[in-house]
Amino acid sequence: MRVLEARDVTKSYRDGRDAIQALKGASLSVEAGEVVILNGPSGSGKTTFLSIAGCILAPTSGQVMVNGTSVTSLGGRDLARIRRHAIGFVFQHFNLFPALTVLENVQFALNMKGVRNRAARIEAEELVIAVGLEDKRHALPRDLSGGQKQRVAIARALCGNPALILADEPTSSLDSEIGGRVMAMFRDLATRRDKGLLIVTHDPALHAIADRVVEIRDGRIVAESKEEPL
Ligand SMILES: Nc1ncnc2c1ncn2[C@@H]1O[C@H](COP(=O)(O)OP(=O)(O)O)[C@@H](O)[C@H]1O
Ligand SMILES: [Mg+2]
Repeated sequence: MRVLEARDVTKSYRDGRDAIQALKGASLSVEAGEVVILNGPSGSGKTTFLSIAGCILAPTSGQVMVNGTSVTSLGGRDLARIRRHAIGFVFQHFNLFPALTVLENVQFALNMKGVRNRAARIEAEELVIAVGLEDKRHALPRDLSGGQKQRVAIARALCGNPALILADEPTSSLDSEIGGRVMAMFRDLATRRDKGLLIVTHDPALHAIADRVVEIRDGRIVAESKEEPL
């Protein structure tokens, strides 16, 4: 099952009178069970590509399929549905709600996906256990370490059981040991839960968990290297 297929994607931003070509025909696909790392210098189009794959930004041209649905021609309401049901996001800075506990952060994400009340409470408990934070379920984000916060963010990304997980530099605010543990968790999501993961990262230490490392330069995917997964 192909969870993401992007073909010849271009994106230009308007900057006053100038147009910035952030993507110049980028093609990439991700299968279920696969971890793909997207690697490239600052400004090469990584975040733009991830935002388009995540249906939070429309491409200027090209084709994008998410979990078997062509999203390029969909309107706002259908896109929102794909975002809610097929895609989970993990960000560099966690983006947790500071006034909500671990459990409540996850429960709120479920509520946003249409899961409510008791069903949301039960699923939130399960997800918090799945990321190993049962002892911290009632803690606020400020009482968590960086690695624990990112585990909450991963639990939140798993809400509603999406096929595709997108992560933008998810370990760059973590130290290398904690970052390694978070990456092991990503590997596990692909291997054991059959998620497809596309992860933007600069950190070469993290390439060990990838099935493929894809290079992006100046808006184009230029090279791909196969690596043995751990
Ligand atoms: N909202 C925006 N408006 C104008 N230019 C943008 C916008 N977002 C990104 N860009 C430009 O597009 C290019 C690619 O940016 P980005 O996708 O953020 O790259 P990366 O994540 O690899 O650093 C850069 O030149 C950046 O300045
Ligand atoms: Mg970026």
